[in-house]
Amino acid sequence: MSAPNAPRQLFVTTALPYANGNFHIGHIMEYIQADIWVRYQRMQGSQVNFVGADDTHGAPIMIAAEKAGKTPQQFVADIAAGRKPYLDGFHIAFDNWHSTDGPENHELARQIYRDLRDIPLDKGGSLIEVRAVEQFFDPEKNMFLPDRFIKGECPKCHAKDQYGDNCEVCGAVYAPTDLINPFSALSGAKPELKTSEHFFFKLSDPRCVEFLTHWTQDGKLQPEVANKVKEWFSVRTNPDGSTSEGLGDWDISRDAPYFGIEIPDAPGKYFYVWLDAPVGYLASLKNLLDKRGEDYNAYMANPNLEQIHFIGKDIVTFHTLFWPAMLHFSGRKTPNKVNVHGFLTVNNGEKMSKSRGTGLDPLKYLSLGMNPEWLRYYLATKLNNRNEDVDFNAEDFMLRVNSDLIGKFVNIASRAAGFLTKRFEGQLTASFGEQGSVLLYDIHTAKDSIAQAYDAREFGKATREIMLLADKVNAYVDQHKPWDLAKDAANNEALHQVCSLLINAFAELSRYLAPVLPSLAQAVEAFTGTPMQNWDTTGYVTRIQPYQHLMQRVTPEQLEALFEPPAVVEEKTIPGGEEIAPTISIDDFAKVDLRIAEIVNCEPVEGSVKLLRLTLNVGEGKTRNVFSGIASMYKPEDLIGKLTVMVANLAPRKMKFGISEGMVLAASHADEKAEPGIHVLHPWPGAKPGMRIH
Ligand code: 2FM
Ligand code: ZN
Repeated sequence: MSAPNAPRQLFVTTALPYANGNFHIGHIMEYIQADIWVRYQRMQGSQVNFVGADDTHGAPIMIAAEKAGKTPQQFVADIAAGRKPYLDGFHIAFDNWHSTDGPENHELARQIYRDLRDIPLDKGGSLIEVRAVEQFFDPEKNMFLPDRFIKGECPKCHAKDQYGDNCEVCGAVYAPTDLINPFSALSGAKPELKTSEHFFFKLSDPRCVEFLTHWTQDGKLQPEVANKVKEWFSVRTNPDGSTSEGLGDWDISRDAPYFGIEIPDAPGKYFYVWLDAPVGYLASLKNLLDKRGEDYNAYMANPNLEQIHFIGKDIVTFHTLFWPAMLHFSGRKTPNKVNVHGFLTVNNGEKMSKSRGTGLDPLKYLSLGMNPEWLRYYLATKLNNRNEDVDFNAEDFMLRVNSDLIGKFVNIASRAAGFLTKRFEGQLTASFGEQGSVLLYDIHTAKDSIAQAYDAREFGKATREIMLLADKVNAYVDQHKPWDLAKDAANNEALHQVCSLLINAFAELSRYLAPVLPSLAQAVEAFTGTPMQNWDTTGYVTRIQPYQHLMQRVTPEQLEALFEPPAVVEEKTIPGGEEIAPTISIDDFAKVDLRIAEIVNCEPVEGSVKLLRLTLNVGEGKTRNVFSGIASMYKPEDLIGKLTVMVANLAPRKMKFGISEGMVLAASHADEKAEPGIHVLHPWPGAKPGMRIH
């Protein structure tokens, strides 16, 4: 650990969130953790560039954008536009927020790749290799399918509709090719195995293994993280019982269509999102420095620069193996620290779920008028430098905020300020009596220990030490009872001393808490005239402004409202223009015999602009004649050979043009003018003529 007082050059990042959803409380916790650390370092005079960005690439975002009817660029821009209320709202002061789809990232990722590809032979040669890979391909969507987009029957427990990588029912882990009756979750089509060339980063190369063996074990990682990482270098057993041997090569390419960065000299090939995501740290920094007119290369070349990443425990592999290896072998600086934190659970480990409303919605928190610094303080009391989960507990939260933060700390000021303003025109004395001076000295000498706790990311320890000092101040208050002293003018001097001491103690404690409570510290600066940006500020408070409430208490009602499941909005929308029909029993439904029908022939009906004549096969050994009012939407030749759904036991109807022996199912809005169009139902692949619909 460096001496707390030596100014440092720091480049600090938090993990880049996927641009496919708003921040959840887990993101906010990570940002608050990093923000507290950064604010502390700044108070020590360190130069910090603290950056974030949206992680924009990859198949899931591409598919989500398509579903939303947007280009991926528009989709991620819309997500980015929603970031500010969270960051400002929780006093998270990034110097820059950028995007992995920015030009800086395209350029840097491609350059890093070229540097890895073009390592000269005398330095061991290229670390990039091209290999043929067999993968599932969706013939309808014309794309290779990521594991998560292949579904089928679990090969072990035969549960239907399981993902391509593991079964959510029995927990089995397998390859997508092991699934029984696999289908594409995108189109429903049966995927085909297809070979394509993939680019690999040769992590198994002895150069990488040797470098990472040292890099991961020389103090850049927390001990528990380093120990876990160590296991990845040796033979190990996978969850499915198979074994893996040491570091494996890393597949860094994906085939078009893919929202990402094109690989140089490889048209149609894109970097896998995790290749360019961490490069986004550098891209955001470069974007910031460019805006300031500073030189990125010179900045990165400074041997004293410390590069520090804050991340969650789920993305350790990427940050402790792939990322340092990419940087090192492309001739770049590697991270100095990767600080790993655990997950945030809510109310005793209850799993967070947005849909069930058990989570803690950050914007809801703010909209209820809850003070962001309550959350910052609460999280600070629970954070340490180990990779441990943190639980947000509503009762504990109320206790820490109301009893500790307000009861012990903020109250110090409110108890003393009134007397000073009313009786001494806001002027303070610098003589505190012996006991007062000793107390102030105690507070002052705790500074280094609190500094070290902040520097080591032991925020729980820092806040505990600060609250212990607040306890001492409160004991002093109880002993000297300013409210009693105020009763007799003969005690004026003692009252002045006690209250002046209290305000000085309060100002110093506020400075100690400033990394956690930046906004409160600012208010204290205005109130006492004591600067709050510099850890080593000395000198006494000489006068105060009239006291204004610095912080309210949290109420049980606020917490109740925070965890109340979102109300079901009773909006009277009529789906499709008509009310849902009255409830029927399953027996009622069973009376309707719905069958898969093959349209073996289809032709216009002379004399009708609306109708088409369909010849349907429902597997009866004969065909049926059905008229359907869909001529405005379909050309006969487009329907021939297709499957659809028909009501097979509808009484035959005599129509102007002949007898209709059933009815084809089609969807339309009740009000044709509101939304014209009629849409014939079409089953997913696998259905055969005559199959009944249950
Ligand atoms: O796990 C995630 O949310 C990733 N988007 C984190 C990326 S961190 C960095 F590499 F960009
Ligand atoms: Zn299973």
